[in-house]
Amino acid sequence: MKALPAPCSSWILWAVFSCFGSVSGGQPVTVEKLVFARTGEPTELTCDYRTQPGPGFTVEWRHAAMGTPAIEARRVLYYNGKVYWVESWENRGVLVQNPPVQGSASIRIFSVQPSDAGLYICDITNPNDWAGSGPGLVNFTVLMPPSTPTCSVNGEAYPGNDITLMCLSSHAVPAPTYTWSREKNAIQLPLQNMVEDQQTGSLILRNLSAPFSGTYTCRASNELGGAICTVVLSVSYNSSAMVAGIAVIVTFVILLLLGAVMGYFLWYKKRNRKSTEEGHNPRDPRESASATPLTRSPGDRPPHHSGDGEDHLIPTKPSILV
Ligand SMILES: *[C@@H]1O[C@H](CO)[C@@H](O)[C@H](O)[C@H]1NC(C)=O
Ligand SMILES: *[C@@H]1O[C@H](CO)[C@@H](O)[C@H](O)[C@H]1NC(C)=O
Repeated sequence: MKALPAPCSSWILWAVFSCFGSVSGGQPVTVEKLVFARTGEPTELTCDYRTQPGPGFTVEWRHAAMGTPAIEARRVLYYNGKVYWVESWENRGVLVQNPPVQGSASIRIFSVQPSDAGLYICDITNPNDWAGSGPGLVNFTVLMPPSTPTCSVNGEAYPGNDITLMCLSSHAVPAPTYTWSREKNAIQLPLQNMVEDQQTGSLILRNLSAPFSGTYTCRASNELGGAICTVVLSVSYNSSAMVAGIAVIVTFVILLLLGAVMGYFLWYKKRNRKSTEEGHNPRDPRESASATPLTRSPGDRPPHHSGDGEDHLIPTKPSILV
């Protein structure tokens, strides 16, 4: 092989890989495209090449942190006959093959940090063999068990209302599954009144009533672990909305009572005025004058005695009937 010119050996390798239907096809650089590791664990980022290093051969590893484009990838390691690690990576990893001139440019990280996640580019450059040169891209995911989630209540917990319980774990890779549960001895609730979303962590409670009261526990979990948070729900009229509602009712009742009292008072006053008018009749000289002939036998009592009300109660009675 060594006797063959570089392009030729490259072509032979390409032909061989093609014949065997290799996944790598004609790629000059092969990598493990998806790598997963937990925080604190060691991991290896594989990068293999088939070219024979000649003069000017270099290896470069670059890293683009999660969420940043590949073009912003920053150098981690450089080899041009000598190995250079950037300062922040010194003592954090090693080349699996050192010097990396026998087909492997793989690196091993001793202890993975969450910030190590992202895209890695392994770049092989061999001026003697451009066909055997090229980049390999590694998508590195740092797995994390869910961080302690935060539980919250969205809405007013009074009877008949709908509310949403929320649960969120800020850090979890892969994305966590959320499950809600109640105390073991809790009263069974109608299932159609509870809607759980295991992806978002929400639990909708419909048409609240007293049996909904109690402790709700949310568990966020993924392949690496789980964490919980709890929320205590108390379904009662004790909420501010209900206090306001009661205030409105009380005000209404007071107004109603006031109205009734005033109505009665007015009615009483009117009736009183009527009866006073009746009482006045005898005292009114004109009225007594007109009234007397109807009831009084002439000469029974002198007209000047009209000041005595009692005497005229009988005579005025017919006027009430009229
Ligand atoms: C890397 O892999 C993860 C999980 O498989 C995926 O969600 C993400 O989009 C990938 N990132 C890139 C840059 O390909
Ligand atoms: C709400 O619950 C009450 C009993 O707590 C029931 O009488 C009523 O029909 C329910 N309303 C709806 C819309 O489901």
